[in-house]
Amino acid sequence: MLENFMKNKILVTGGAGYIGTHTCIALHEAGYDFVVYDNLFNSSREAINRVSTLIGQTIEFIEGDIRDAESLKQVFAAHHFFGVIHFAGLKAVGESVAKPLMYYNNNVSGTITLLEMMSEYDVKNFVFSSSATVYGDPESLPINEESPRSCTNPYGQSKLTVEHILEDLAVSDDRWNLIALRYFNPVGAHSSGQIGEDPNDIPNNLMPYISQVAVGKLDKLSIFGNDYPTVDGTGVRDFIHVTDLAKGHVTALNYLNKQTRSNGSGTAKKNSVGFLPINLGTGKGTSVLELVSAFSEVSGQAIPYQFTDRRAGDIASCYASADKAKMLLGWQAELSIADMCRDTWHWQSMNPNGYTKVI
Ligand code: NAD
Ligand code: UD1
Repeated sequence: MLENFMKNKILVTGGAGYIGTHTCIALHEAGYDFVVYDNLFNSSREAINRVSTLIGQTIEFIEGDIRDAESLKQVFAAHHFFGVIHFAGLKAVGESVAKPLMYYNNNVSGTITLLEMMSEYDVKNFVFSSSATVYGDPESLPINEESPRSCTNPYGQSKLTVEHILEDLAVSDDRWNLIALRYFNPVGAHSSGQIGEDPNDIPNNLMPYISQVAVGKLDKLSIFGNDYPTVDGTGVRDFIHVTDLAKGHVTALNYLNKQTRSNGSGTAKKNSVGFLPINLGTGKGTSVLELVSAFSEVSGQAIPYQFTDRRAGDIASCYASADKAKMLLGWQAELSIADMCRDTWHWQSMNPNGYTKVI
């Protein structure tokens, strides 16, 4: 538990979503108070109810949109926040290609409105959900935070644009403390099986697709390409357990606490964090076939698959250097690929239809 002097209230935008719900639990376990702000565009009240049950406490939840300045104003006026963890946004790459304005409006304009409100209420500590997608097709592996950035789709561009905005903001005023956490491939679910990833439609991403094949909702997995220059020809990614990822956010807040608080005597100097990008990954690559095999072993289910053409825009390999997170935040991923598969399977088999129906 944090010491009392570090106990702070956090605004969690998008806190009803996949990573947000897990982070709410981690915040509670670490002794932080929080308020969830979410428009429920891609989530449900049921997710909030389940988090409440898991932490044994009612959650302060406000249904609202980050693009709604008036609504945000009321929230900032009613609370004294130490900082904001900003998950709210849209995340489907294919949809972003079809509806770029919707993505820029939500992810970029929404973030600007939020930052303006933070500025007005003098809340200057910010943890942003960025993505490894900002690295595009990496020149070398593992990918560290200094690697060049480039994006090929509107979703990735929206994350990169927000990073540029945060960089400019940090230059404009050194009271801002802006951490961009670049997630690699978040998977898994809470060990209780009560919360997890709940895709709206047929999943685009690998782990939810595998788990829906395992539970019998989908017939077979298509593996997009088996001719990549990788260990077995299939794509390699840095899968990270969502519980580890959630803890990464707590360590980012703890870091901001340490850097920005005086020692109470009023004499200690506060350090400006500026713009600080940090990878959250395990540092290990796992191929699609290796993940399929691990999932099959843990779940005891066969995962039928076929090889198909490469998916447009995919890269061969992507995994993080996780050194900076370890050095600055004292954070490193602890859970294994088997843990990720076990917890995904637990969630999927207990909730074959996500939050809409419980068996
Ligand atoms: P999610 O869709 O489950 O959660 C996002 C939440 O934001 C949802 O509850 C949604 O209702 C809410 N939201 C969306 N637009 C909003 C708006 N305008 N106002 C208020 N609430 C809004 O997604 P997630 O997987 O939990 O991702 C969280 C964040 O992390 C997103 O910003 C995403 O881009 C980023 N990210 C996710 C991944 C991933 O693989 N899941 C990887 C890298 C980065
Ligand atoms: C995807 C997003 C990326 C985002 C990341 C976060 C795309 C194109 N990219 O990355 O912007 O930051 O999620 O988690 O959506 N695969 C299959 N069959 C499937 C699904 C996937 O073979 O049905 C393969 C892919 O080709 C890839 C690997 O599995 O090699 C991982 O795919 P996925 O889970 O979609 O993640 P990324 O493509 O890494």
